[in-house]
Amino acid sequence: MSKSKLVKFSEYESFPNAYSPAVESKGQWASLFGNKNPIVLELACGKGDYSLGLARMNPHINYIGIDIKGNRLWRGAKTALEEKLSNVAFLRIPIDTITTYFAPNEVSEIWITFPDPQPQKEKKRLSSFRFLNLYRQIAPPTACIHLKTDSTLFFESTCMQVERDGLKMEELVRDVYAMNPIPSVLQIKTFYEKMWLDMNRTIQYCRFVLGDCVSKMPAKNLLKKNTHI
Ligand SMILES: C[S@@+](CC[C@H](N)C(=O)[O-])C[C@H]1O[C@@H](n2cnc3c(N)ncnc32)[C@H](O)[C@@H]1O
Repeated sequence: MSKSKLVKFSEYESFPNAYSPAVESKGQWASLFGNKNPIVLELACGKGDYSLGLARMNPHINYIGIDIKGNRLWRGAKTALEEKLSNVAFLRIPIDTITTYFAPNEVSEIWITFPDPQPQKEKKRLSSFRFLNLYRQIAPPTACIHLKTDSTLFFESTCMQVERDGLKMEELVRDVYAMNPIPSVLQIKTFYEKMWLDMNRTIQYCRFVLGDCVSKMPAKNLLKKNTHI
């Protein structure tokens, strides 16, 4: 790990709004935030751009950005401290372990922002049947899942999983920047999103209801070969 990454990593650990695996947070997030406002997660948050953007828009909702990379989370946590945003925090954990850190129904909504498409490993996709079943252990069946991505493979795989599980797709947008007007929540741009836009990639968005069904077959089996990632 480079020196600058090490410095950020250790500084992250000292921030009051930054948590790591040692935190005993399950069922405790209301007391960690000091209020009972709804809790919304941003998964694979990187530098936490969506958590910060949404927190600025909605002071009465608490946001938690989750990622495995402490040096990226450092940027989000530092910006939140600089802007005195008290309704946003960051958690450095593998998302696979999320049920260790949140109690049933503790989370009201989830954003997945520009996740790794995982072309070869369907089970590692953050909208796979395995991950949706983890989210069902921490959020109610009525919770919305938002996905923003440049990856057609990830987007199609998610749509197929939604269909397979009989979930309600509430909104599906093939090209966010062709919308007129673009809703303010979709105007927030992440670090990776800016890179993809510079490369003229199309940004897709969907929002579906988590539901309570337990899927048996991964969407991979329904995907066509050679789908663009
Ligand atoms: C392509 S980046 C996107 C970051 C950010 N959302 C953005 O748009 O700038 C994907 C992020 O997902 C994180 N990630 C991937 N799999 C993860 C996992 N299982 N648990 C935690 N973080 C994960 C990576 O560390 C990385 O920061």
